Amino acid sequence: MRPLLAMLQVTCVLSLLTAAEPLPSVWEAGVIEATDLDGRRHSFDDGTRTVDVVVFVSPTCPISNGTLPRLRKIADEVAQAAGPDRVPVRLVAVVADDSMTREEAIAHFQDRPLPFPVIWEGREALRGRLRPTHAPEAFVIEPSGRIAYRGAIDDAYRAVGRRRPAITKRWLADAVDAISAGKAPAEAFVAPVGCRLEIAAERVPATTVTFARDVAPIVHARCVSCHRDGEVAPFPLTTCAEVAAHAPMIVETISAGIMPPWMPAANDAHPFLGDRRLTQKEIDTITAWAEGGCELGDPADEPALPTFTAGWQLGPPDLVVRMAEAFTVPADSPDIIQHFVIPIDIPEDKVVAAIDFHPGNPRVVHHAVLFLDASGAARRLDAATPEPGYGKFSGPGFLPSGALGGWSPGNTPRRLPGGRGRHLKKGSDLVVQIHYHPDGVETRDRSEIGLYFLDEPTAAIIADRERLVGSIWTSAYELDIPAGDAAWRTSASYTLPKGVTVVGVVPHMHLLGKAVSVRAELPDGSKKQLVDIPAWNYAWQDEFYYQEPFPLPAGTRIVMEGVFDNSAANPSNPSKPPRRVVWGDGTLDEMLFCFLLVSAERTEDLVHVVLDNLRHDLEAPRLRR
Ligand code: HEC
Repeated sequence: MRPLLAMLQVTCVLSLLTAAEPLPSVWEAGVIEATDLDGRRHSFDDGTRTVDVVVFVSPTCPISNGTLPRLRKIADEVAQAAGPDRVPVRLVAVVADDSMTREEAIAHFQDRPLPFPVIWEGREALRGRLRPTHAPEAFVIEPSGRIAYRGAIDDAYRAVGRRRPAITKRWLADAVDAISAGKAPAEAFVAPVGCRLEIAAERVPATTVTFARDVAPIVHARCVSCHRDGEVAPFPLTTCAEVAAHAPMIVETISAGIMPPWMPAANDAHPFLGDRRLTQKEIDTITAWAEGGCELGDPADEPALPTFTAGWQLGPPDLVVRMAEAFTVPADSPDIIQHFVIPIDIPEDKVVAAIDFHPGNPRVVHHAVLFLDASGAARRLDAATPEPGYGKFSGPGFLPSGALGGWSPGNTPRRLPGGRGRHLKKGSDLVVQIHYHPDGVETRDRSEIGLYFLDEPTAAIIADRERLVGSIWTSAYELDIPAGDAAWRTSASYTLPKGVTVVGVVPHMHLLGKAVSVRAELPDGSKKQLVDIPAWNYAWQDEFYYQEPFPLPAGTRIVMEGVFDNSAANPSNPSKPPRRVVWGDGTLDEMLFCFLLVSAERTEDLVHVVLDNLRHDLEAPRLRR
């Protein structure tokens, strides 16, 4: 943990302020006397009758140096706007780091002259009082000493290292303009992007970032779906006190991108539905709040907790089906793959927009795949064995007439985008393949599945273009990972015989998986990223749907590349010491495959692609053990 965080005093300060009372003056704790690089004196207190604009800059920070020309422009605008209807504005820069001597700082600003003072002596006191977190960061302080705006200068950067092609927001300029005219700025806080500053020791209550107003909306939208009682996460994050109690760990995990869990890297060209990643602004807001002492703020600002449907996350399903009887998972046995045949009683064909799989016993259910069988073959396989369902490794034992997707830890039920769905024929059986992980005690599982149908008549959906979704996949069956190899790579590909629209991707690996990426190589030579998972985590696999499904022409090659870590240093390696690992269903085996969910302009094309893919898969070379 960073010393900075260890230093934090994590308390939830109940603010006694009410909305009606003015915020305290930052100068209340005493006047600050300062001297600029030219030796002129300046004092900061609430008797000055000016709007004070204090910008913390760091000569060693490239983002900060790059901002100086834009600060000059703001100074010009302030001078132009001055008049009898305006409160006078005083603009100063404050050197926020201690990495250079006064002479070096003078030389630095001689090369980059500013039309306003650069504060040198007194800079620690200003930092201690205003507590900037980054350079550059600006504070606009009303004559009363109240901070009316704090944060970024403009939106030149989306994040560190991510410069925008053009500036579209000039928050500081707009705030100065409004405040000097006696108006409230449009934004009171915009998280700054720049070089992180150590937090100065002197603490004052943060006057801008509060739990009630700034942090609660983020936590409600991004964390409480899992961090509440009865959900998957280990502790609730529903109140200020609960969030404050975990503040250092939260800052650590959100900055590292570990929480909220979401594996794919940003896919700017084709963003995913339900992307859980926080924006840089959200990360900075939570960080500033934690570092400012976890203030509650005005309780009246705190939005109500969102309500959640107990059990079914998408609301009551149209049909709920369960395994006919519970299956007994022995205390100790190798992995079990069992298939349960569930007749679906529907009066007519339906189109399934989403499913929600509820494991009967999450401790032993490892993952599930939902096949469809319209031939009765699965019933015959089931009838031939005495126990509930039938056991079979490497596939369900019949040629499925369709599939409804799958479930693995981390999966979130979602509706397919664009009013799409999977065809469910009347009279089909749902064949649920469940992979069990015996857990040391004999347990029973009876999983259930909620199905969500599209409302419209099925014939109309089928007749409509692009509404039916089918699955195709590419698999690296020949994988053969030597013991001890920390970065073993392999790849697989499939070429589309007809044009399709890609709706989603579902990559899959086991515990040795380290990274996986899937791209489309178009016939014109261009490439599209379909998904890039730089740090695979078995616990967080999901089905990833695109916000806007997009077309890929016939002849496009789908290329999947995977990296595995079969070294003893991989904490997830289930084999100690590592052993040679090949393709297989068991947890000690590995897999590398990716489903693509696709639709097509014409249903015939979709059927053609699905059958071609099946043939490709049957012909794909397999490793002989
Ligand atoms: C999809 C569910 C989900 C969401 C959304 C989620 N978390 Fe978590 N979180 C978990 C689970 C599960 C764990 C336990 C992880 C483990 O044991 O590996 C966890 C663990 C944590 C931990 C402890 C980390 C550790 O290693 O002990 C922190 C801190 C945390 N979450 C913060 C957050 C914050 C903050 C948010 C929102 C910005 C968030 N989480 C969103 C599921 C979630």
